[in-house]
Amino acid sequence: MNRERALTTAVSAAKEAGAILRGGRREEKYASTKSFRHDPVTVFDRRSEALIVERIARAFPSHGILGEEGTAKEGASQYRWVIDPLDGTNNFLRGYPQFAVSLALLCGEEPEVACIYDPVREELFTAICKEGALLNGEPLRVSRQSSLDGAFIGVGFSSRPERALRTYVAMEELLPVVRAVRTGGAAVLDLAYVAAGRLDAAWYISLSLWDVAAGLLLIREAGGRASDLAGKPLSNPENGLIISNGRIHGEFLRTVGERKASDPG
Ligand code: IPD
Ligand code: CA
Ligand code: CA
Repeated sequence: MNRERALTTAVSAAKEAGAILRGGRREEKYASTKSFRHDPVTVFDRRSEALIVERIARAFPSHGILGEEGTAKEGASQYRWVIDPLDGTNNFLRGYPQFAVSLALLCGEEPEVACIYDPVREELFTAICKEGALLNGEPLRVSRQSSLDGAFIGVGFSSRPERALRTYVAMEELLPVVRAVRTGGAAVLDLAYVAAGRLDAAWYISLSLWDVAAGLLLIREAGGRASDLAGKPLSNPENGLIISNGRIHGEFLRTVGERKASDPG
């Protein structure tokens, strides 16, 4: 597998999809809901996915493709693309300029290539396994913050109330210690920002594979760490994840990890 070619294909598809999303901010956006009340999908999520899938399938016909908006193409090889065609749909719908396109190429379960594109700021985050991570061509490194005291933290409040409640409960302990908590509403960008050292750590109660596949490679390549809420290697992001610069991982985990998350009392 030529990973440079895979990355070039991913970048060009992500930029084309990003241009569709940029234009979409001015058009009327039809929205329906998916599995629950605050889980919208727009025609732009679907247009973006259709474009990316077409470009990937043309360049790599033997690869599998998993896309959030329903693509589930079996591949003849062990390579599989995982795509979030529009992360931050709620932001996009409101014209809140924090959303992105995310593509990852996995070999089995291992990420090989990652590409996250923010079409508003025209920021392109890329990584190839064991070759480092880049932002618009410049090397990325996680922050050097060494304690939770003063840390800059990203948090995702789930739109499912029962999950969001866990996050609120842990905030009581977190807020007096950290410098600030940011909740951008696009998990893909939170992961990219940890890799870029813009956030020191971030925490999610539940995410899907397409939310994290690219970002986790960026974080690893930029020197950061990811785990589940018990501190174990991440096997299923739907059960929550903590990502960080590595230095504050343990302290952050003790503050918001498993026990706190599942036992509000
Ligand atoms: C959502 C966003 C949001 C996170 C949700 C995700 P979507 O993705 O990343 O920040 O809190 O859990 O589902 O639906 O906009 O692609
Ligand atoms: Ca998403
Ligand atoms: Ca999405």
